[in-house]
Amino acid sequence: MPTPLLVNSSYRVTIITLDGQSHSIEFRRHAYNNLMELAVNELYEDIGDCKGHAWCGTCHVEIVSGKLIESMTRDETMTLEKLENTDPASRLACQIMLDELIDGMVFRVLGDA
Ligand code: FES
Repeated sequence: MPTPLLVNSSYRVTIITLDGQSHSIEFRRHAYNNLMELAVNELYEDIGDCKGHAWCGTCHVEIVSGKLIESMTRDETMTLEKLENTDPASRLACQIMLDELIDGMVFRVLGDA
């Protein structure tokens, strides 16, 4: 039997910032537009130059633990293709929504190197 979604519950995500520090952050569903905004607002991470349009690549993250079921948009794919430090677990944090689907996941910020 599927687990019912608790819309008002809080969730938790771990973000490893560019300085190597690991941060466990509690969030409410859609408290920010996306994972990039959470990292900028809660951790003061210096990413997000294009404000979430999937153009700059500064919010490039690696999925360390967990799995995203949403596929990438064409813009996200094209931006990641321009970066040199990508791997199969690369995504753009600005394209990752803050919802129950990322609860418990771990992301490492890699930036646009
Ligand atoms: S904020 Fe620019 S690609 Fe994500």
